[in-house]
Amino acid sequence: MGFNGAATLALLILLVSSNSFNMCFGQLSSNFYDSSCPNALSTIRSKIRSAISAERRMGASLIRLHFHDCFVNGCDGSLLLPEEKTARGNNNSARGFEVIDEVKSEVESICPGVVSCADILAVAARDSSEA
Ligand SMILES: *[C@@H]1O[C@H](CO)[C@@H](O)[C@H](O)[C@H]1NC(C)=O
Repeated sequence: MGFNGAATLALLILLVSSNSFNMCFGQLSSNFYDSSCPNALSTIRSKIRSAISAERRMGASLIRLHFHDCFVNGCDGSLLLPEEKTARGNNNSARGFEVIDEVKSEVESICPGVVSCADILAVAARDSSEA
């Protein structure tokens, strides 16, 4: 490999690594909904807290839901699809869907079409860990 080959390889490595840095940084933010739905996080938190005070075990169940949501193709909310709820391994095992449904409809009532189901699952898991 001559100078051109080495320079091309170095450039390729730089491009690939800088691209993957872009994928790692700058997309996740804990204040993402601050302007589009300022009360989203507090609404989720209060729903999660009341679900857990009604049933202590729900915290662990909601953390598990987020964990399972992240299994196939990343944390995309697909666990909430009807066929996923009853898929092998989830059917009669994963629980807490009704809590997520309640949170989603509450959040939809204050900010229609803004907060994703995947984000609700993630924030619910976070809040469950500190409730
Ligand atoms: C899920 O569980 C219910 C109740 O046990 C059962 O009737 C149903 O067939 C199951 N669904 C699947 C897809 O395995």
